Amino acid sequence: MTYTAAAAPGAFPLIGHAWPMMRRPLRFAESLSAHGDLVEVRLGPVRALVPCHPELLWQVLTDDRVFDKGGPFYDRVRATIGNGVGSCPHAEHRRQRRLIQPAFHPARLERYAPVMEEEAAALTERWEAGQVIDAYRALYGAALRTVLRSLFATRVGDEAVARFGESVETVLNQLTARMFLPRPLRRLPLPVNRCFERAVADLRRRIDALVADYRRGGADRGDLLSSLIAAHDESAVHDESAVGGARGHLDGLDDTEIHDQVLTLLAAGSDSVAATVSWALHLLDAHPEALATLHREVDAALGGRPARGTDLPGLPYTGRVLAEALRLYPPGWLFTRVTTEETELGGHRLPPGTTVAFCAPAVHRRPGVYDRPRAFDPDRWLPERARSLPRGAFAPFGGGARKCAGDVYGLTESILLLATMTSRWRLRRAPGSDLRPVALSTALRPRRLLVELSTRDGPGAAANG
Ligand code: HEM
Repeated sequence: MTYTAAAAPGAFPLIGHAWPMMRRPLRFAESLSAHGDLVEVRLGPVRALVPCHPELLWQVLTDDRVFDKGGPFYDRVRATIGNGVGSCPHAEHRRQRRLIQPAFHPARLERYAPVMEEEAAALTERWEAGQVIDAYRALYGAALRTVLRSLFATRVGDEAVARFGESVETVLNQLTARMFLPRPLRRLPLPVNRCFERAVADLRRRIDALVADYRRGGADRGDLLSSLIAAHDESAVHDESAVGGARGHLDGLDDTEIHDQVLTLLAAGSDSVAATVSWALHLLDAHPEALATLHREVDAALGGRPARGTDLPGLPYTGRVLAEALRLYPPGWLFTRVTTEETELGGHRLPPGTTVAFCAPAVHRRPGVYDRPRAFDPDRWLPERARSLPRGAFAPFGGGARKCAGDVYGLTESILLLATMTSRWRLRRAPGSDLRPVALSTALRPRRLLVELSTRDGPGAAANG
């Protein structure tokens, strides 16, 4: 098979494609596959190759030794959220992943489900008919509290959660922009930069204090942080090569590493879930038949009450709606890799140091990979239809060894949130919404999704579906 390569048109001097990428990220990503299977874009002065063919994306994701997390963009991420499992280079990744993986073991996930249930129920508890809410903001609050409470089961009160929330949000709002902004701009003594630095320092202080407290207590509190503290890399004894020579004996995570993992999980686990459910709400609002199907399923499974973890088997359509939202609007829409040696991708030679961009919507929205790629069709995720998709066609959680560690956690939480929200409430898009994705935010999310609430058991409920 031959794969075509081309350069994307429309690059400006100096900034390259930064302008269309910031203004219309999805439209830009979607346009790329028309030029070829491997398309060169310019991220400012850096040239990056975007795989637009599922097979090429698969190769990049699964060969993470050659297509590594590195280069100037990752240096900047590490300077902010540290060298955790999501940002560390391949040489350190396997050890880190082994150490955090027990925190996502199915038995642990069962313990987090009650937190997800409570937060989903609390989100809708004070809703009133006629009220207009900013859906993303509400969901972000719920998702952040869920991940914080999963991390620190017993120790974080409401006020501390709110403070954590502010700092995490400040960091997340600027993380991606700072990846691509030139250094002098990031260093200027501007309020925005000072605010960012204060938020990073605040998070560091808070997390370090919690870790110290847990270490003193010693007990397993059944939460993520206990699991990180208890983790021991037993396989390191037998598998020196996999740890890149970093450590070759039975060991765990030191305080700096735990700090970096906590920050990674807070950053990875909050806005991604909020963005996924926000896009699903938007899509359902625009597709009344799909909303009616969802309502039927949610009614049969929940009968008007909030969702519980045990309801998941009765909510397959809700899951398909979310999968389709993740295909059309993958929150993690742009990540980079750098080649560590000369390699070949789709028949094209790449010298070491080549930047490759993992941009899921370039494949997710490609005609030919998906039938009617722009259409919202949750049933394309029925097993008999999804089976024929090529590998690499659906990568909202990445793939290979660096695939999202929180995929099951994030999907479970998203299903519980969406089912609980729609169980008693009808959410209609209200005027003042702006569905364009936020420019350069860490997760692809709508600028403002305002929804008006009405109860589904009120007058007109039957007509509303
Ligand atoms: C629907 C929600 C979510 C989406 C769409 C999502 C997406 C992703 C993607 C695309 C990656 C891979 C990035 C790359 O290859 O460069 C990733 C990695 C990661 N995610 Fe998620 N994520 C979600 C939820 C979560 C949650 C809830 C957590 C934790 C509580 C989490 C933790 C992580 C971690 C630790 C990594 C790094 C994995 C590694 O490099 O080994 N994610 N996520």
